[in-house]
Amino acid sequence: MARISLLLLALAGMAIAMPAQALDDLNWLSPDADRAAALTTAPAECLARPADPGQAWRVSLGQVAFRSPALLGGLAARNGMSCDTCHRNGHGNPAFFIAGVSGAPGTADVTSAIFSQTRGDDTANPVPIPDLTDAAGKSSFGTMRPARDLPGFVHSVMVEEFQGQEPAPAVAEGLVAYVGALKQSACPSEATIPLSFDHAARELSDTYAVLFATMDRHDPKAADFVLRSLNLALGRLAQRFPGAPEAVGTLPALGRDLGAIRPLIRDDPEAARRALTAWRARMDAALRTLSAHESMFDRRAVERFLNAVR
Ligand code: HEC
Repeated sequence: MARISLLLLALAGMAIAMPAQALDDLNWLSPDADRAAALTTAPAECLARPADPGQAWRVSLGQVAFRSPALLGGLAARNGMSCDTCHRNGHGNPAFFIAGVSGAPGTADVTSAIFSQTRGDDTANPVPIPDLTDAAGKSSFGTMRPARDLPGFVHSVMVEEFQGQEPAPAVAEGLVAYVGALKQSACPSEATIPLSFDHAARELSDTYAVLFATMDRHDPKAADFVLRSLNLALGRLAQRFPGAPEAVGTLPALGRDLGAIRPLIRDDPEAARRALTAWRARMDAALRTLSAHESMFDRRAVERFLNAVR
């Protein structure tokens, strides 16, 4: 218990220290890194999408899970962390730094009590965050608590290391399928991509499509997870618009509407589909309005912001 309350204190301190509209991503950025670059670009994902529709859905569901703070528990989830925070688009993250968790930037102590009271080993032993591209073919995963198989390793990362709830089986399988589809042979020619507004809008749209595909497979538990992930993605988008009243008003309102649809997924899937279709039209309208505003997808705006909070 002592550990948990210490952790809550650490979290509260973190939250108070940050300005109200700060980006979650600032919480784990090394002060020595090129922070503007880290906030506006990402390494390109090397994802081989399977041709088989069932397997393609599994990989897409896993991609949503990989980027979703709804997968993890405890401190990680409350700060908006996901697998993608450390393994950006399936790679490492040389700019990752959390005091007490990292040694050098780009490393993390996966047996830290800050994230997990079951795994915490009271020893600072950070290791480099590995690139997961082509990792699935290995015969052993991780070095601190090595596991022979990928599903077992991923399960322990979610449930033990980051204190997540036991995920819906399709979500756990999807995550393994996603990591398995990260292949060097699928790397696009550009090694770095811009994190633009369009990119974020596309991600919302893709997550919405995964939500419908998951409802089509009559898996309300997994669909509920996708809906919560979509809601968290809206919140992350709002953080990029500290100066736009639409973001402060419209996106949280859309989030609340989405929350109201949540019980329908289980109780009345047809009504959920109708409500989601109407909701999607409102989201698209909000995105059109937002696209006209300056945002923290713009490197100059990010630089100004970073200078102001320094
Ligand atoms: C706080 C940063 C962090 C987060 C969040 C994180 N990881 Fe990792 N991950 C690491 C580090 C560090 C290692 C290396 C651990 C070791 O060597 O024991 C690792 C190792 C791995 C490996 C083994 C790779 C190999 O080559 O052996 C896999 C697979 C993996 N992570 C998947 C995930 C998944 C899936 C999630 C989300 C559920 C996740 N990670 C979340 C930091 C993180």
